[in-house]
This record gives sequence, C-alpha cells and structure tokens, in this order.
Amino acid sequence: MLNETITPSYIVKYLDQYVIGQEEAKKTVAVTVYSHFKKIGRAEADRTVITKSNVLLIGPTGTGKTLMCETLSRVLDVPFVTAEATALAQSRYVNEEIEAVLQRLVDKAGGDLVKSQNGIVFIDEIDKLKATDGQPRSVSGESVQHALLKIMEGAAVKLGDDRYIDTTNILFICGGAFVGLDDIMSQSNAYKYISILKGDSRQMLQRLNSRVKPTDLFTFGLIPEFTGRLPVITRFQELSKQMLVRIMTEPKNSIYELFRQIFRNEGVELAVEPKVFEQIAELAVEYKTGARSLRGIFEELITPILYVVPDSPDVEKVVITSLFTDPTYVRKGRAQ
Ligand SMILES: Nc1ncnc2c1ncn2[C@@H]1O[C@H](COP(=O)(O)OP(=O)(O)O)[C@@H](O)[C@H]1O
Ligand SMILES: [Mg+2]
Repeated sequence: MLNETITPSYIVKYLDQYVIGQEEAKKTVAVTVYSHFKKIGRAEADRTVITKSNVLLIGPTGTGKTLMCETLSRVLDVPFVTAEATALAQSRYVNEEIEAVLQRLVDKAGGDLVKSQNGIVFIDEIDKLKATDGQPRSVSGESVQHALLKIMEGAAVKLGDDRYIDTTNILFICGGAFVGLDDIMSQSNAYKYISILKGDSRQMLQRLNSRVKPTDLFTFGLIPEFTGRLPVITRFQELSKQMLVRIMTEPKNSIYELFRQIFRNEGVELAVEPKVFEQIAELAVEYKTGARSLRGIFEELITPILYVVPDSPDVEKVVITSLFTDPTYVRKGRAQ
C-alpha cells in the first residue's frame, strides 16, 4: 500500500520541509498514518476489517493543522479533502453535504473509487459542534456528530452517480481550537502530586497531565460515541515569534522565497533583512491568528515596491531594512 521508503521518520522529515515546529503532533500523526496504511495492507491480504485510529488535532487557529494534513497527503500520495464542521451544521441536509465531501474526494482521486477509499478527509472546526448548540433552522451540532460518526466508523455512502464509496479505510482527521479546554483539563487533572516529583518522573507526569482525556471532550460538548472514534489526540502549540520568523523564511515555499521569485522574474534581486521578519512576526503575534496574518503584512510591505519596479528597468536590487523606512533601490551601473 505505502511506498517501501515511507516510515514514520521519513514522514516527519518530509513534513519538516513545510511545517515549522509542532514536533509532537508531527510524530504522533506520522506514526498513526503509518500504522493505518500498514493495517490496510495487511487487512487486504487477510481479508479482515481494520480498526481505525482517526485523529483529533487540537490547537489554536493558524498554527499549521490544515497545512500539516495537506502536506501529509502529498507525501503519502493519497487524495485529500477538507471540510468545515460549521458548514455541515449550517446546511439543512447534513447527509447530502457529507456526500458532497466524499464526492470531492473521489474527484481528487480522478474518479478512481478505489484510490479515494484510501484517502484522507480533514474536518475542521469540530469544536463548534457542541451538543448544546441547537440553533433553529440548522442541524444541531449533535446531529452532525452522529452523521459524521457513521462515516468515520465506515459506511457505504451513495454518490450522485449511483456508485457507493466505502469509508471503512478512509482516515478522518478532525481539527479544532477547543478554546476553554485547558480550564476543563486543569479541573479534571488526575495527577496532582506533580510538584513533589523530580526529573524524569516529573516529566512523565507532566506529559500525562497534558494529555487530553475523552472525558474532557465530553465536558466540552462532544458526545461520547464521537470522541470514541477519535482515539488519537494531539496538540498544536501556539507559534512563538521565532517560529513565525522561520515560517516566513525557511520552508521550501516560504513567503520570502515566493516574493524573491516574483522579483527575480522582473530581473531584480529582493533582499529583506532579518530585522524586518522580526517586526512582521511581532505584529502577527499581536493579531493572534497564528501564521495567518504573515502573508498579508508582507504583501502590504511589498506591494508598493512591486508597483514601481516594472517601470524602473535600471533597478537591479531592492533592499528592505525595516517595516517603517523606505526601501533602498540599487540601480545598475552605480556604486552601492
Ligand atoms: N507550523 C507552521 N509552519 C509553516 N507554516 C505555517 C505553520 N502554521 C501556519 N502556517 C501558515 O499559515 C497558514 C494557515 O495555517 P493553517 O494550516 O491553515 O492553520 P490551522 O489549520 O491550524 O488554522 C498556512 O497556509 C501556512 O502558510
Ligand atoms: Mg485549518
């Protein structure tokens, strides 16, 4: 099923090229998907049914949950779609919406039903499906949980073209910010004698304590049957300023690299000094949307420059030293 070279550490190395930080989440997910696809392979050989380990990613907005899933689907070379739980809850016919999501998965697989049945479905904003949120004229969060539960367990779902897609081997990854979960966890904390321990045992207890327990999720508002389908839970951390700087500059397709390429196409070298990335990261931290605001801020800085550069064929280099001062235009044939 999986390419021979793919192991959990291979997956993590691949993810590292695009997703900054989030080491724990990367490892957990890599091990989970690796064993998932191994199990599928074995089950096909033995003609048995797999017990699936769907995954729950918990973490603030803009910290790389969707990015990691997308990147994961690329390294595994399986079809991938995302859906938003809130959109499902707002629709009148949740089953039709779910069917549409699965149809998109088949489309992503180029119409290949078998391929799509080994795909990954990412359902975001799962934390918005609280059982108590019964709004009029929309499906309640709880009934969406029930509908999702069925396909996560494995079901044959009829598609528009009368074919059936079997969801048994599809890996479902759910995501959400779960604001307020930490408060719930600190109250349900089972291992309170942490302060008297030292060294390794203390670290182990800290890890146990940072684990999200299914009961915490019930308290939050997910129904027990639903959390029961999400045995693997991992957390995404808030991005530090330093990580935001790395996100702009390090990944293969980083914002900086993207814009350097745009300038290169104009025959111009773009040089942005490290301080500028720090300044952008500081603003982004204030916006509290993780890495989401980085691109917008960077574009605001660059757009006025990109406006003048095509009219200035003598410019060969643009140097930006601060967010708050004008860039330096280096012109051909003149000393710097
Ligand atoms: N850890 C990260 N490493 C690299 N880029 C990131 C990271 N987190 C967020 N980003 C950037 O921010 C954008 C939004 O991230 P996304 O994965 O959609 O966040 P989430 O799904 O957690 O809300 C991504 O497209 C990516 O450019
Ligand atoms: Mg997302």
